[in-house]
Amino acid sequence: MSKDKILVIGSSGQIGTELVHSLRAIYGVENVIASDLKLTDQAKEGPFEVIDVMNTTQVHEIVKRHGVTQVYLLAALLSATAEKMPKLGWDLNMQGLFNVLDLAKEKIIERVYWPSSIAVFGPNTPRQNTPQYTIMEPSTVYGISKQAGERWCEYYFKKFNVDVRSLRYPGLIGWQSAPGGGTTDYAVHIFHEALKTGTYECFLSEDTILPMMYMPDALKATIGIMQADADKVKIRSSYNLAGFSFSPKDIAEEIKKHVPEFTITFKPDSRQQIADSWPQSIDASEAAKDWGWKPDFDLKQMTDDMMMNLKRIKKETLIGS
Ligand code: NAD
Ligand code: SER
Repeated sequence: MSKDKILVIGSSGQIGTELVHSLRAIYGVENVIASDLKLTDQAKEGPFEVIDVMNTTQVHEIVKRHGVTQVYLLAALLSATAEKMPKLGWDLNMQGLFNVLDLAKEKIIERVYWPSSIAVFGPNTPRQNTPQYTIMEPSTVYGISKQAGERWCEYYFKKFNVDVRSLRYPGLIGWQSAPGGGTTDYAVHIFHEALKTGTYECFLSEDTILPMMYMPDALKATIGIMQADADKVKIRSSYNLAGFSFSPKDIAEEIKKHVPEFTITFKPDSRQQIADSWPQSIDASEAAKDWGWKPDFDLKQMTDDMMMNLKRIKKETLIGS
């Protein structure tokens, strides 16, 4: 039986929905507690707690009651939403992190996973093959909160011996869950619209190249860094992580191989400015060197897999209706 008891906070979002499945397959359903602001269908699949990560007492009580040893903290406001609600973005992204880091500082939990983002980089960062250590002048509330969060993670590791691990995710793409208010969300919506209506209006311009990753690779990296021996995790701020990079035009071309009649139009909105401040590709060599990171999917493999699964679901829904 697993000795680890895991709490995933923000489990009903894009990453949590899939991460909970993967963790339960490894650690057992009863050892992985999903938790989010509201009760969701996840509660039918295994342990679930309604939680507000801002509520220190509630987080403390749930962790103690379940004997939690590891927390995956996913609750946050993403880039586009945080620009609309900057105060909430800052408060949630920082206070949530402190509440969990403090549990580890008090040795109530043993290990913390907290994701950072390519949003820690800014317009003055080298945009190609962005190194682990470089200029970081984020221009979004989200990016500022992630950069500050990284500094606090490293501080808690050095000062209080907190075993915290973190990855700078690129934009994530998966078929099992919807994205929650980011600048890279178009790369998920485009698949659904291609199959539903055969057309998509993109909120980024056709040549906007961004670093992206298929969800199975993100889950592999997340669980990989959490399971790595502590001495292999040398960076305690956050690791650069890379999958592949593409523009809306590139992914539309790839989708056309599956839906030949697919058309795309472009109507950039305020998210364009955010995308223009981020890198186009990431150097993840530190993660490869320290704990063996290697992605499995490129753009073509990801598109083929997304299409296969979304078409299957569509067919099953039609048969079931
Ligand atoms: P999401 O928005 O899809 O999910 C976040 C979840 O947190 C939601 O289910 C929401 O209900 C929950 N939540 C919000 N406030 C809460 C609170 N006060 N208490 C408890 N739960 C609360 O986000 P995601 O895409 O799953 O991202 C998870 C983490 O990964 C975030 O830290 C995000 O910054 C980071 N990240 C995501 C991406 C991506 O492309 N999805 C890229 C880089 C980093
Ligand atoms: N996918 C995320 C966003 O667009 C990057 O952190 O906000």
